[in-house]
Amino acid sequence: METININLEIQVYKYDELSETDRILVEKARQATYRSYAPYSHFSVGAAILLNNGEIIEGSNQENVAYPSGTCAERSACFYAGARYPEAKFEAIAIAARGTDGEFTTDPTAPCGACRQALLEYETLAQHNVRVLLAARDKVYILPSVTSTLPLAFTDF
Ligand code: THU
Repeated sequence: METININLEIQVYKYDELSETDRILVEKARQATYRSYAPYSHFSVGAAILLNNGEIIEGSNQENVAYPSGTCAERSACFYAGARYPEAKFEAIAIAARGTDGEFTTDPTAPCGACRQALLEYETLAQHNVRVLLAARDKVYILPSVTSTLPLAFTDF
């Protein structure tokens, strides 16, 4: 019998400690929450993806009266980035959310499983780690890669 340990290092930053690039990305994710369409959950999520061409692509959750037809902020951002700049590589993604009280969440919001899987595809295409910034009200978690958020991912068949 063998044991496999999977270790995840999360760096916890205060907003002021972030690099300028990361601060801008977090700010864009926060702004994107105000363009969310979430009349059903009242949970507004924003995502901002930095591409290697310098562009930042933003997305927000877009809900639908037929609930499963909506999409998360991360997937709206990553699919738009792929559709708009198919040659560009992802460098980092920031995610922020506001709850029913309208305030940014006190704890970071992590991407759902489907979004992790979708983002993983773009990390594979980039051929390098895509950093993941999870922005809460007073702190930002930085994860080294999308892969680190989805151990034992399905990658090929
Ligand atoms: N949501 C996101 O946009 N991203 C996540 O990572 C988790 C959940 C959205 C989906 C739905 O519109 C709302 O948040 C409540 O689940």
